[in-house]
Amino acid sequence: MEQKVEISFKIDGKEVKVPEGATILEAARQHGIHIPTLCHHPDLSPYGGCRLCVVEVDGGPKLAASCVTPVRNGMEVATNNERILEARRTILEFLFAERNHYCMFCAQSGDCELQNLAYEFQMDHLTVPVLGQEFPVDTSHEDIVIDHNRCVLCGRCVRACRELAGNAVLDFQNRGGRTMIGVDLSQNLGESSCVSCGLCIQVCPTGAIFNRHRTHYAVKGKVKDWQMVESFCPECGLLCPSIYYVKANNLIKIDGRLPSDMPDRGQLCRKGRFEPLKTSKPRLTRPLERDGDGGWRELTWEEAFARVIKGLADVREAYGGQALMGLISSGCSSEELGAFRYLMVKGWQAGYLDTLDGGHFRTLIAATEGVGSNFKEAPWGAITEADLVLQIGADTSKSHPIIGALIRRAILENKAKTAVMGTENTLGEWAGEFLEVSQEDLPSLLQALLIEAGRRSKGKPSKDFYRRWASKAFTGLVNLFNQADNPIVIVGQDLTGRPDPSGLQLAFDLADLKGRLPGGVWRLVVLKPAGNSAGAWNLGLAARQGLNGHKPVKGGLLCLAAEDDLEPGLKERLSGLEFLAVLTPYFTDELRAAKILIPKPIWLETGGTYALADGSGSRFVKRILEPPQGIRPVEQILAAIGPRD
Ligand code: FES
Repeated sequence: MEQKVEISFKIDGKEVKVPEGATILEAARQHGIHIPTLCHHPDLSPYGGCRLCVVEVDGGPKLAASCVTPVRNGMEVATNNERILEARRTILEFLFAERNHYCMFCAQSGDCELQNLAYEFQMDHLTVPVLGQEFPVDTSHEDIVIDHNRCVLCGRCVRACRELAGNAVLDFQNRGGRTMIGVDLSQNLGESSCVSCGLCIQVCPTGAIFNRHRTHYAVKGKVKDWQMVESFCPECGLLCPSIYYVKANNLIKIDGRLPSDMPDRGQLCRKGRFEPLKTSKPRLTRPLERDGDGGWRELTWEEAFARVIKGLADVREAYGGQALMGLISSGCSSEELGAFRYLMVKGWQAGYLDTLDGGHFRTLIAATEGVGSNFKEAPWGAITEADLVLQIGADTSKSHPIIGALIRRAILENKAKTAVMGTENTLGEWAGEFLEVSQEDLPSLLQALLIEAGRRSKGKPSKDFYRRWASKAFTGLVNLFNQADNPIVIVGQDLTGRPDPSGLQLAFDLADLKGRLPGGVWRLVVLKPAGNSAGAWNLGLAARQGLNGHKPVKGGLLCLAAEDDLEPGLKERLSGLEFLAVLTPYFTDELRAAKILIPKPIWLETGGTYALADGSGSRFVKRILEPPQGIRPVEQILAAIGPRD
């Protein structure tokens, strides 16, 4: 094992040793010596901008910023004498005087690093004049507000945006006293290329960048009342490590867990950080039955269970178990999926069982059958190591924003090339090449790419090939592919959502053109439609046929996870059933096909296991909140609606 070289030096008169390369700040922290900081963040690159961490080195006339000054052998450092404290206090006063830091009017008050420093330095008044300059407040973004008046120009947001999110939307603009955080060269955040990951909020040490969904939860020194739950976000199957802050059963904020050695580097996406804080549909809290006039009437839980059992039993008696179906959202936990399967298959002997993303699975299963049984998908970490990322028929910005961040990081850190094939260029200016192509035409374009890239030497471009595809972008795409040594192909719902697997099979062929990754892993990432799609697939919940093709079904049970949207064809099929009961957290008009609605908790209100979408394992997602009063756990509901014979 390589021996680390150690450096000896003196800090506050104490002889200490630290590994070579450590900064004075790191060395001080290793030895329990406190040095205040503001622009420094342990998960971001050193910056040395605020100078609050100044120390005296070898008694020299100039104070040094400890966060960027490396330790050297024999160095003598003082961290805490009158001269140093005076310098830090002056710096802090200027920071307060420069902009609006009247803490009593700030929602961040009580949870603010700048305010904490004022207490630490017992700064009871300012000895320098307040500048009183006015800066804009940018409220143009759906989730994030930037109040430039409260900014201390520490640059943490700028570094987090570039280094963790790989986006580089934020940067400094203007000079001197008018310096501000700029967005895409003077745009409003709402019109910018911001991907709404919210990392800027998480790392901002003041109230300059904040979450607009929680502005009314003023902190005011109450941080200690918060419960902090470390868990994982189950929104898209990446299961990003997250921290949930809760007060009196209110979700206050959600942060990514930093530091992180995961490929996502501790960030969260818009879905993980903001979506759980806002619900647009009313919660269902009592069981309901549809009455003859198309309205709903309340039932007791026991009445609702009895109605469901009778409805399912009537269908089974009249037509047999083949006529019963169970349909469940893959946003449910593996425990819920397993209990649902047990109830419908073992209990009700239902002839049809599927998930709401069954169509995607049918296509994926058919495509993997074409390539043999040993299909192993690439882990997400492979994206950042690729030299070419090819995004086909996928909208990573909507469905899997963290994958989008990994692509941008591959570009920034690995100089990777990128190409997008799809209806929209969802990578924007990050895409090296963009080929606009409809879902219908994707297979033909993939076929053309395979021919040109030399795989299908026997194939000849179809007659209208050159008219349709021969373009500068297509030639660019072929060149990018031919030059790549380590490409990754990311496919999304425009391929998995096609009933015909041929397009997806062509993507498999393309991904295999440059050989596999170590361990026989395919150079392919398949984006899954829901948070626990891989768990549902592991449990064998995908039917071989869509519900529309399964004619005998006359009734059944539908279990939703959240605000799931039902496809129009499915909605129509469900409304033709003789009996349908729906377990749902939300009351929505989409559910008019149901005879009985039974409320269920959302994932925040029930713990459970979720499978990682790349097949690399699973995580347990903890319960964060109590469900609204009266809502029963899913297992209890499912146990109560089994057949009575
Ligand atoms: Fe060292 Fe800001 S913390 S310069």
